[in-house]
Amino acid sequence: MTDTKLVAVIGAGTMGHGIAQVSARHGYNVCLYDIDLGIVERGLDRIRGNLNKGISLGKVTPEERENALDRITLSSELGMTVGSADFVIEAVSEQIDVKQQIFRHVEANAPAHALLASNTSSLSIARIAAAMRDPSRLIGLHFFNPVHIMTLVEVVCGPDTSDETRDLGLAFAHSLGKDPIVVRDSPGFASSRLGLVLGLEAMRMVEEGVAKPNDIDKAMELGYRHPMGPLKLTDLVGLDVRLNIAEYLFQALGSEAFRPPEILKAMVEAGKLGKKSGQGFYDWTEEGS
Ligand code: NAI
Repeated sequence: MTDTKLVAVIGAGTMGHGIAQVSARHGYNVCLYDIDLGIVERGLDRIRGNLNKGISLGKVTPEERENALDRITLSSELGMTVGSADFVIEAVSEQIDVKQQIFRHVEANAPAHALLASNTSSLSIARIAAAMRDPSRLIGLHFFNPVHIMTLVEVVCGPDTSDETRDLGLAFAHSLGKDPIVVRDSPGFASSRLGLVLGLEAMRMVEEGVAKPNDIDKAMELGYRHPMGPLKLTDLVGLDVRLNIAEYLFQALGSEAFRPPEILKAMVEAGKLGKKSGQGFYDWTEEGS
């Protein structure tokens, strides 16, 4: 028997593997779950790759890599995954019905003391919790990509989330070396809502010919010390992703600030999605972009 606490991570994709990695690196035992073992193994390969990169950068020792990997077990059986968990972090695809179904199952199988958290980036915690018998147990823990590098976690409290759950969520985020903020369950939380306004306004400025994309970005980078301008960030996130979020927030908040600019719609229509398509507000096909 050991005192080491167990983190169950549901979903082994982009976010799930990162949350599993950071948890293992901070001394937790981890059970990483997805619908089939092949997917979980790919998640583990990504963790191994990240840790190997950490070694080549001098940030991780080979011993730390082995310790972290030794703490991770793989699973494709949900009941077993959460049955003795102290923390359950869900990071499956952004679909409300899938998340509701998972939390119904998790609530029935996880110990009563376990923290139940969703990594949703846009869904309402209240809506997910509506499927649960006790919605006071659910919280949002919105990690950022890549999880092992980004220190922000939005701790999202729904109307029914208890203070105890909030405090447990905050303590868990701190225990992973993160710098959490508490946010009320509202569309776009704090980060997407604020970040998107800047991005959309920058696009409107390109539309109006106020300045070139690179100069608009420089205004924020040099004038406000943002590490990256809003248009370059849009290219990295994907213009299609930003358009989806803008449409959702425009509808949910009813503010003109979120009305998708014509230039964004036209670029997505033309397949200019940013870095992943080679072309966005910048040309990513050129070397050094
Ligand atoms: P992803 O597509 O990389 O991974 C999702 C995983 O969920 C897949 O491995 C899939 O097999 C699994 N899955 C789907 N249905 C399942 C089920 N019923 N049971 C178990 N596993 C299931 O997605 P990603 O990007 O990791 O996103 C996961 C969550 O994190 C979403 O809620 C997303 O909004 C949120 N998020 C994503 C960020 C990002 O930059 N990708 C940033 C912050 C939050």
